[in-house]
Amino acid sequence: MTPANQTTELMNARCSTRSYAPTPLRDDEKQAILHTAMRAPTAGNMLLYSIIEIDDQTIKDRLAETCDHQPFIAKAPWVLLFVADLQKWMDLFAASGLDRLDGVPHGVTPGPGELMLACCDAVIAAQNAVIAAESLGIGSCYIGDILELGETHAELLHLPRYTFPVTMLCLGRPKARPHIVERYEKHVVHRNGYHRLSDAELREASGDLDRLYGAPGFGGYDNYAQEIYARKFATDFAAEANRSVAWWLERWRTGTE
Ligand SMILES: Cc1cc2nc3c(=O)[nH]c(=O)nc-3n(C[C@H](O)[C@H](O)[C@H](O)COP(=O)(O)O)c2cc1C
Repeated sequence: MTPANQTTELMNARCSTRSYAPTPLRDDEKQAILHTAMRAPTAGNMLLYSIIEIDDQTIKDRLAETCDHQPFIAKAPWVLLFVADLQKWMDLFAASGLDRLDGVPHGVTPGPGELMLACCDAVIAAQNAVIAAESLGIGSCYIGDILELGETHAELLHLPRYTFPVTMLCLGRPKARPHIVERYEKHVVHRNGYHRLSDAELREASGDLDRLYGAPGFGGYDNYAQEIYARKFATDFAAEANRSVAWWLERWRTGTE
């Protein structure tokens, strides 16, 4: 029998919530969620991220537009932005005189390695927040589209050079219980190294996905793979996210504001 407890049951029952009761979250609930987010593991105990609380309606309204036109963002009582953050360490190093060892500019600047660690920190903290919220009866939904329109989001949220908005969470009490999305472990778990699917296995995986998510009618597409290609990859928002992330990386590299 599969071992189960309250924690695994809570996590297995979680699903993304996109419709919220308008009641604001209480301060003690927010505090519990933020505290639990910060208890997440963090590379070198460096807390390479910052969390920006967003409850200003004007900002939420803007984000509902800039994050690929998703109106439910404006209706979420509480929004949390998880930002990869090396800026605070760079500022602390400078304040400690470490940017000028022996009086000459030292030139240590964060690169892609630190950025990846910071992104890991940020998403792990975000997922801790999701589970903490869930345990309090508060639903959540990630917003990946915060990766788009980098220049606009940097200005709107005052994000300095060595930051990167990794992901955003909308939170609120669910209006209705959403459906649980089923998954097959065989599509995800590999043993002792990566196993690339053979043609036969690809056909089987495609059939599995059609059965899980395809019906009815695949929204006008022949199968689920075709639908994902058309709706997630070959889209303007995917192209914009790629352009925007390249802009953030260039900003880190060159300092161009
Ligand atoms: C990185 C990331 C980005 C996401 N971005 C969005 C988004 O912009 N809008 C949205 O409605 N859902 C978004 N989601 C939620 C996914 O659509 C959702 O997790 C997925 O469909 C599986 O459903 P479940 O969370 O209910 O299991 C995102 C999830 C992740 C992890």
